[in-house]
Amino acid sequence: MLKGKNVLLCVTGGIATFKSAALTSKLTQAGANVKVVMTDSAKQFVTPLTFQALSRQPVYDDTFKEQDPTGIAHIDVADWADVVLIAPATANVIGKLANGIADDMMTTTLLATKAPIYIAPAMNVNMYDHPAVQRNIETLKGDGYLLIEPGAGYLACGWVGKGRMAEPEDLVVLLERHFQPKEQPLQDQCVLVTAGPTQEKIDPVRFFTNRSSGKMGYAIAKKAVELGAEVILISGPTHLPKPKGVKVIDVQSAADMYEAVIEHFDAANIVIKTAAVADYRPKEVSEQKVKKKPGQWMIELERTTDILKTLGERKQHQLLVGFAAESENIEDYAKKKLESKQLDLIVANDITEEGSGFQGDTNRVTFYFRNGDEEKLPLLSKDKVAEALLLHVGKLLKGKRHV
Ligand code: CTP
Repeated sequence: MLKGKNVLLCVTGGIATFKSAALTSKLTQAGANVKVVMTDSAKQFVTPLTFQALSRQPVYDDTFKEQDPTGIAHIDVADWADVVLIAPATANVIGKLANGIADDMMTTTLLATKAPIYIAPAMNVNMYDHPAVQRNIETLKGDGYLLIEPGAGYLACGWVGKGRMAEPEDLVVLLERHFQPKEQPLQDQCVLVTAGPTQEKIDPVRFFTNRSSGKMGYAIAKKAVELGAEVILISGPTHLPKPKGVKVIDVQSAADMYEAVIEHFDAANIVIKTAAVADYRPKEVSEQKVKKKPGQWMIELERTTDILKTLGERKQHQLLVGFAAESENIEDYAKKKLESKQLDLIVANDITEEGSGFQGDTNRVTFYFRNGDEEKLPLLSKDKVAEALLLHVGKLLKGKRHV
C-alpha cells in the first residue's frame, strides 16, 4: 500500500524522537518515499544525519537554508506529500498548529500542505491532560487533523499514564490503511478475537492446558485488520508473534480470559471465540509445590464459566462467532452449540482429519449459520479460512444473511 507514496514525516523534540528513526526505516522498507522535517528540539535528540541515511533524502530543518535554488522548500515539500505524519508531536507543535503559528520550517510546511495530516502526540501524562493541550487537540480535530491517540504505559519521565507515542509498526499499519481502497467490509467495526489455550494452575509449577496453538485466532486478528477493523486479541499463552496493528491482551486462565472479554465486550460489535478455553480447573490451587507421595494423586476439578454462553445471554448489538473442534458427530454438536450459546455462526472442524488438527497451518471447516445455511470449505490455509470467515461476517453485518 505504501509503495511509491510520498510520506512527509515531521519530527519534533521529545524522548520518543528515537522511535521516529525506526519509523523512517520501516516506512522506507515498505516502499514509501520518506522526507523528514525536524525542529531544532528534535535535533537535540537525534541528528538529521540519522534520518537522512534512513530515508536517503535530504532532511529539512531550516526555512532559510534552501537546498535547491530552483524551488522554495517548504512549499515544494508541502505539495510533494501524499500524507503527513507528525511523530512525535509535542505539546508545543500542537499548540502552534492550533493557533496557526508558522515560525519554522515544520510549521510553515504544515500550514502550506493540502495533504491529510496525522498527529501522534508524545508527552508526559499531565502535560497531555492539561486543559490547554486538550483544547488545542480539539481545535485541531475540528480543523480536520487526524489524531492518533497516545498509548498508556510507562513514560520516560517516570510517570505511568497516557502519553506514549504510538509504536512505529502501528503507525506503518495506519498509513497503509490510509492508502487502502476505501471499500473495506469491516471498516469502523471493532472485532474481539480470543485465541490459544488457557492454563489452569495446579500449583506454582504445574498447570492443565491443551494443544491449541492460537494460529487460527491470530490469523483472524491479522486479516480483520487488513479488512479495516479495529482488533482486540485476547490471547492465552502462545509462541506466536503479535500481529501488527492489533491490541493484544495476554491472559493465562479461563477466569482471566473471562474478565478480559467481559471488559471489552461492550466496545466490540463482532466477537470471534477461537480460544480453546479449559472447561475445568482444579478446585484447589496449592500455593506451594505439591510434593510426591506414595499412591495416587486425585485432583478435584470444577467447571469454568462458559464465556461464549455468557456473551450469548448478554449480547445486544454484537455478532457472535464460536468454534467447535470435534472428533465425532461434528454437525450435531456444532449445531447444538450454535443454539445453546445463541451464536450467529459457528465454525466446526473435525480434529481427527488430516490437516485439521490443533497445531497445523491448515484447517478444513464448515460454517453453520443461524438461519440454517451451511458452507463446507475445502482444506485451506488458516489465513484463507480467516478471510472466508470474515467476509461472511461482513455480509452478516450488512444483514444479508442475518436473521
Ligand atoms: N468457550 C468459551 N468458554 C469456555 C469454553 C468454551 O467461550 N469455558 C468457547 C470456545 O472459545 C469456542 C466454543 O466455546 O468458541 C467451544 O464450545 P464448547 O462447547 O465449550 O466446546 P468444548 O470446549 O469442546 O466443549 P464440549 O466438551 O462441550 O465439546
